[in-house]
Amino acid sequence: MKIGVFDSGVGGLTVLRALLPRISNAEYLYLGDTARLPYGSKSQATIARYAVSSSQFLIDQGCEFLVIACNTASALALEEIRLTAKPHGIPVVGVIGPGAAAAAAETATRDALVIATSATVQSHAYAAACQLLGLRSIEKACPLLVPLVEEGWIGHSVTSEVVRIYLSELHQQAVDAGLQPDTIVLGCTHYPLLREVIETAVAELWPGQPPRVIDSAEATATEVERQLPSSSAGENAQAGHVRAQASFFATDSVTKFCQLGTRFLGQPVGEVKLVDLGG
Ligand code: DGL
Repeated sequence: MKIGVFDSGVGGLTVLRALLPRISNAEYLYLGDTARLPYGSKSQATIARYAVSSSQFLIDQGCEFLVIACNTASALALEEIRLTAKPHGIPVVGVIGPGAAAAAAETATRDALVIATSATVQSHAYAAACQLLGLRSIEKACPLLVPLVEEGWIGHSVTSEVVRIYLSELHQQAVDAGLQPDTIVLGCTHYPLLREVIETAVAELWPGQPPRVIDSAEATATEVERQLPSSSAGENAQAGHVRAQASFFATDSVTKFCQLGTRFLGQPVGEVKLVDLGG
């Protein structure tokens, strides 16, 4: 089984990282559309055009299953991607539904918080997915977090302060709306790298009962495993299999992809091929 994993950049490697231990006998093709990142500040039409051409690339490479490991593309272009994949009989899994379902599985209060890019928040895709599952939610755009992670400022005091400011605004919104959130969804592929910083801020703002952090990468990998034929899933991956099983493609600097990608994947990224998908 060839599984295509697509993100606007390296952030989707957090989803690949979650997939590898679950589905180890697949061949992965990962595409990071780094030349056109960030998607999160662009219009729906542009995001859909980029996401469709990226998905088409993976289909042309022979992928039989597509994982849209980008919250922004999943929120704004999942239908267009599905239409592209449908004639080939290729299933498509995005990250929004699994993220909302993971929050629904964890919450007792039925109130959830979501942090994401501006485009994802403006689409209200998470609010809609949460509502379908009977949850109330508040979404908060955190546009500075992607550039901070891209800069490698994971443990920097500036990043901690920015996270604290965003989350205290979100805390106030929750208080004003009378919500009692006990879950907070990381609705952007970059945010799992800030998990510790986010957990620290959440613990300060909600002393006693801090909302539990939900990583949509983990939830998405579980959903892919559920949708695959049982022969394709279930074996435990061994460390070192990544380079043997995954091919990496980027639309901009392969050097930068390798450096940043290693941090997102949690182990060295192998050879990265440069591809041109146009503008
Ligand atoms: N991959 C995007 C997401 O998960 C974040 C980066 C971007 O804005 O392109 O929403």
